[in-house]
Amino acid sequence: MKFDIANQKLAAKGKTRIEWAGRQMDVLGRIQARFKRQKPLKGLRVAACLHVTAETANLMKTLVAGGAKLVLTASNPLSTQDDVAASLVVHDRIAVYAKKGENRQTYFRHINTALDFNPHITMDDGADLVSTLHRSRASQTKKVLGSTEETTTGVIRLKSMEKHGVLKIPVIAVNDAKTKHFFDNRYGTGQSTIDGIIRATNVLLAGKVVVIAGYGWCGRGAAMRARGMGARVVITEIDPLKAIEAVMDGFEVAPMSRVAGEGDIFVTLTGDIHVIRKEHFLKMKSGAIVCNSGHFDVEIDTKALQRISKKQRQMREYVIEYTLPGGKHINLLAEGRLINLAAAEGHPPSVMDMSFANQALCAEYIARNHRHLEKRVYGVPEKIDETIAKMKLDAMGMHIDKLTSEQLTYLSSWEAGT
Ligand code: ADE
Repeated sequence: MKFDIANQKLAAKGKTRIEWAGRQMDVLGRIQARFKRQKPLKGLRVAACLHVTAETANLMKTLVAGGAKLVLTASNPLSTQDDVAASLVVHDRIAVYAKKGENRQTYFRHINTALDFNPHITMDDGADLVSTLHRSRASQTKKVLGSTEETTTGVIRLKSMEKHGVLKIPVIAVNDAKTKHFFDNRYGTGQSTIDGIIRATNVLLAGKVVVIAGYGWCGRGAAMRARGMGARVVITEIDPLKAIEAVMDGFEVAPMSRVAGEGDIFVTLTGDIHVIRKEHFLKMKSGAIVCNSGHFDVEIDTKALQRISKKQRQMREYVIEYTLPGGKHINLLAEGRLINLAAAEGHPPSVMDMSFANQALCAEYIARNHRHLEKRVYGVPEKIDETIAKMKLDAMGMHIDKLTSEQLTYLSSWEAGT
């Protein structure tokens, strides 16, 4: 078996971390047990392009239990947990192509190696695998039964491919499941973003001005948690609806150009390019901390920061201090890549449990239903979403009420009123 990882000697450490995460992933565990018996993915080759974390490892084990043959490649050059990659290779004999800190060329070489595997199902986080497939290996799309997409940014890219008539495979937008984005994007990103900032810098959040760019599900989570730590949170937005929501959630809303000089910590979670750029850096206070928790490293114009700086110094593992000509310092975290996966461990297992339960059940859905799927982006079937919500509640030991027959009749009648 071929693979490309940093260090096989890290396998033992990775194994216990995977086991620890697995204990908090009950829904996925139950799916894994069923997959073991029923083998819904038997004979299928799956190429997964995901963050190589302990949580992803538990998804990989589930797919293998279902009978899939697997290759795993990273969905970001800085998010790989090398011990996890080692354990998957050494203990599970899964072909992993991922090394933390790999350069862009290696990153895409690994993606191409995963495509050499001729997958029947692709699993993506950010759509780099599917876009590489379409851009440079289009003839292979005929063999692909379907793909799943984990993240908002990837879904936006795939919908754009569909709109432009270039999408050649069916895709299920896992991100759009309620059991995914209501929880993973909000509580997962919320907690792991703060975790990443603290691990990278060891700053106190209480009393700081934290500027959150973007009030989507991820931005809401980060804003909520920063406030919970005692920060004064300011939101920047381009969408009037989201801006009103932020205001009514009790946050201050202002344009970046106005808050640039006020913020102590800036976090981008917009999915868009150059949200923080030269004009903003020039207004920032000395000591400002700038980071990104959106999928790609495009949200902060890091090249502009380099251009206007006269000196750079590595202050801590994920902190580069840029000194501007007047002597002002700006601290960029994790090169502008996602702070939660670069400096911390990504979202905690119990929230990835639902996201990856969606991935596993959508892979099974593709295996069973691919003959009826068109070359479009589909939402996750409601039945899957509902099943996962029920399983998660059950795993958490929570119970809910059932409608009485009187209530059922009331809700389905149009006659009843005042
Ligand atoms: N995306 C965000 N957090 C993650 C995690 N822990 N594992 C895989 N993908 C993630």
